[in-house]
Amino acid sequence: MFQKPLTEIFPEPPAGLDPSALDEARIPQHVAVIMDGNGRWAKKRALNRLKGHKAGIEAVRETIRCANDCGVRYLTIYSFSTENWKRPKEEVTGLMELFAKTMLAEVDGLHEEGVRVRTVGDISALPAETRAAFEEAWEKTRDNTGMTLNVAVNYGSRDEMLHAVRGVVGDLMATAHETGSMPEITEELFASHLYTAGQPDPELLIRTSGELRISNFLLWQIAYSEIYVTDVLWPDFNRYEFLRALLNYQARDRRFGGLK
Ligand code: IPE
Ligand code: IPE
Ligand code: MG
Repeated sequence: MFQKPLTEIFPEPPAGLDPSALDEARIPQHVAVIMDGNGRWAKKRALNRLKGHKAGIEAVRETIRCANDCGVRYLTIYSFSTENWKRPKEEVTGLMELFAKTMLAEVDGLHEEGVRVRTVGDISALPAETRAAFEEAWEKTRDNTGMTLNVAVNYGSRDEMLHAVRGVVGDLMATAHETGSMPEITEELFASHLYTAGQPDPELLIRTSGELRISNFLLWQIAYSEIYVTDVLWPDFNRYEFLRALLNYQARDRRFGGLK
């Protein structure tokens, strides 16, 4: 359900983009975003890559508000992958500091809007301050009933699946010990050990900066997601680009392997 009138969510639409075309009944419950292109945005302006990441924060803020206003229930934002540790130390450290600072600065505003902040990924490997900022945000907002914001940090889908397999094996052994028989391994059992346990799969996956790949993101959960790739670099992404993605999604014919 729209949380505000569309004219408030999208006050100044660019020519040719009509917010009233948005179908309230077909807003995706879960949107996942690969926020890519910060480095190229900075390079185009002869700036340090970290300046690109900083510029990306405003796009994150606007996307969270817009998704929440449109009635999206879960938003998952890819912020740092298990492969991003390969980057120069200066960039990794700068990103970790930026995450901590941004989370601390934003948590009260998100809390007021009823957003529930969580992380997906292995946060045990993060620097103490960054980890603490995410944990405090999770704790503070845990009882909120608005949109759930999953910040994917030190997230990798293969890592998540291995983590899930360990959990499944633990369950099997415990049940075998108690009952003497092995329970069935079902999709539900496996999914209940993913970081996104209890959440619906994303109906829509957005990637910015034109790259046509998944980069180890939500491999299990996106089995039937609609994929929307835009050439817009992440710091240039805003509510109107989000609207374009939603409208494009609403024009898709989703068959799930069946016929229509
Ligand atoms: C995405 O932007 C942000 C992170 C991966 C942390 P990039 O830093 O990958 O930007 P490009 O792809 O180099 O332009
Ligand atoms: C994916 O972007 C990870 C995040 C957006 C956090 P990358 O820039 O790391 O992905 P590749 O290297 O282009 O596949
Ligand atoms: Mg990139």
